[in-house]
Amino acid sequence: MLVIIKNSYDEMSKEAAKIVADRLRKKPNLVLGLATGSTPIGLYKELIRMHKEEGLSFAKVTTFNLDEYIGLPRTHDQSYFYFMWENLFKYIDVDRRYIHVPDGMANDIDGHCEWYENEIKHLGGIDLQILGIGGNGHIAFNEPGSSLGSRTRIKTLTEQTVKDNARFFKSMEEVPKFAITMGIGTIMEAKEVILMANKTNKADAIKSAIEGPVTHMTPASIIQMHRKAYVVIDKEAASKLTHQFRG
Ligand code: GLP
Repeated sequence: MLVIIKNSYDEMSKEAAKIVADRLRKKPNLVLGLATGSTPIGLYKELIRMHKEEGLSFAKVTTFNLDEYIGLPRTHDQSYFYFMWENLFKYIDVDRRYIHVPDGMANDIDGHCEWYENEIKHLGGIDLQILGIGGNGHIAFNEPGSSLGSRTRIKTLTEQTVKDNARFFKSMEEVPKFAITMGIGTIMEAKEVILMANKTNKADAIKSAIEGPVTHMTPASIIQMHRKAYVVIDKEAASKLTHQFRG
């Protein structure tokens, strides 16, 4: 695990973008795992800039998103599909046919989850997975208590996560209570992972994930067991770490 601490959100976003761009240049048909939330927005902005100014191409890339709310159509402005479209996909040359975001409106959720897993396998696995972290240490929507070997499935969101997400919806009733999420086992099979976090409200989660024990109560702590993981964070998210890490 390589922990890279940057002075600002901008610098950490650029650092993560450098890793993504490097892998993409080496393998134009990269299988890229993507995350939503406010954290990776700076990374996506930098990738868009690289696409426009440096000719970084996503034409052969296949993408897999980590998760999606159940019950929100892709056209809903809070669906993760919509988020990805607005914050990345519409600005780059990714082929729409190669985009995968779990379908929160699928009739057969279990069948859809199985299809998602098979699709990842069929494409040779995820080469590089981007991850954020929830305030409670969750990754994707694998809440505390999730099995460390879990696969893509339906998850009930914790009260805390529902509250955290309420700011994006008009009322509490509208906030989805269920989601489809890649499992921790699925995420761990990615060949490389980049966990990103910024701001002080992530400092406790980052400390538990990096310096605490590996436990399903802090799902992100499983990253300690990954063979090739980067933790790219800003000074504030790193503020509770006690070890010395690379700046
Ligand atoms: C949601 C997403 C996670 C994300 C987390 C943190 O729970 N399912 O993938 O990491 O939010 O979001 P933010 O980056 O906005 O803090």
